[in-house]
Order: sequence, then C-alpha cells, then structure tokens
Amino acid sequence: MENSLKITKDGSHTLFSPMVQECYHSENGAIQESEHIFIKAGWESCDKTDIKIFEVGFGTGLNAFLTLLKAKEQGKSVSYTSVEYFPVGGDILNKLNYVQQIDAESECCFKKLHEAVWDTRESITPFFTLEKIQADFTKLQLTDSYDLIYFDAFSPEKQPEMWSQQIFDMLYRHANEGAVLTTYCSKGIVRRAMQAAGFFVERLPGPPGKREILRAIKK
Ligand SMILES: C[S@@+](CC[C@H](N)C(=O)[O-])C[C@H]1O[C@@H](n2cnc3c(N)ncnc32)[C@H](O)[C@@H]1O
Repeated sequence: MENSLKITKDGSHTLFSPMVQECYHSENGAIQESEHIFIKAGWESCDKTDIKIFEVGFGTGLNAFLTLLKAKEQGKSVSYTSVEYFPVGGDILNKLNYVQQIDAESECCFKKLHEAVWDTRESITPFFTLEKIQADFTKLQLTDSYDLIYFDAFSPEKQPEMWSQQIFDMLYRHANEGAVLTTYCSKGIVRRAMQAAGFFVERLPGPPGKREILRAIKK
C-alpha cells in the first residue's frame, strides 16, 4: 500500500501512511510543526558550531532540509545521520511542496538529500554531510555519539517498540554531554522512560494543535 499526499493547515504537504494509519506530520501544519519542535526547541538550543545530529525516521527529509538551511544561514557545520526503514518512493517525493514553501533557491539541496546513496556518508553542501541508514531502528547498533537527536517516529500507540526503555537507554549512551533530544510526543510513559534513561526532561509548549512537546537533555 502506497503513502498518499495530504495538504496540512499551513499549506505544506504531509504523507499519510496506510501501514500505521497515521500522518508523517501534524495536520495543523507540517512545516510549522518541524520548525517548532526540531529547529526552535532542538537546533536553537545547541550552541556548538560543529554539530552531530541523529534523526529517527528520515521520511520526507523535511527535518534534514530545514536543518541544512539553518546551518547555511548560521555558518555551522553539520554531520547528519538518519535511520529509515521504509524509504519514501521517488514519485511522491517529487510532489512534495517543501522547496516552494520554504526556499525555492535550495531545490538542488532538497534533491541531493533524497538522491544521496543509502548507508554512505555524502557531502550535500560543503557544510552539511548526510548518512541515511536504511535499517530497522529497533535493531540498530549506534556507533557514534550525537549533540542533537530528532526523535520523529510514528506515535507510541502505533509503534510502541520505537519508544521503549531500551531505545532511550541506547540514545542516552550515544548522546554527548549537553546533548538535546526533542520530540512531538508528550506522553507520561515516554517522559518517564527518558528520565529513567538519565535525561533531564522539560515539557515545552507545542505548535498549534498540540499542548506540549518534550525536550530531553543529557546534563
Ligand atoms: C512520523 S514519520 C516522520 C518522518 C520524517 N522525520 C519526516 O519529517 O518526514 C516516522 C518515520 O519513521 C519511519 N519508520 C517507521 N518504522 C521504522 C523503523 N522500525 N526503523 C526506522 N524508521 C522507521 C517511517 O517510515 C517514517 O518515515
């Protein structure tokens, strides 16, 4: 069964996954949600100039694209690693309107993010490298450690195995001192799993349509 394209309330696209019966982003606004959770609450809380990022769920590449543009604007250098078990097909990727909605001049960067070979680190720009790992995250052995973690799995109701205690324990072990993890999910069970792993966890106001989000810090 194929993903289908949907327009969200800010005019940007998301995908609906028939596999989990859930959208990839908030229907209140995909770009608005990614900017709020991963850029404002995540990226902007990291003051390093060389940043290692790990993302759970590459999907449409929206978080990677927004991060690449921020890195360019702020003159920062990013090593971005993302795991994805079910890569989105090329036909539907070509229809996503993120380039038009965000920055028409960066079309080539968005394309390069998607054309990058899986399981290889590639230079997308002189300041942004990307490694997309095609694997089941629940079985992945991380080898590096990270400054920023974008936790963007489908919901714990649909994929509880992605939000387990073992997962947060592993992410804590692979987080650098001061590292920040952000996610749209604010459920108590997830917050407690992050805390049990060792993270200090804050509840922050969410984007439109979402009361709270979580930000976990390795102090
Ligand atoms: C909520 S979507 C977000 C995707 C992406 N961050 C975006 O903005 O488009 C969750 C993503 O996790 C991926 N996923 C689901 N199960 C996975 C697994 N076991 N391992 C790795 N990725 C998985 C899905 O295919 C999907 O791309």
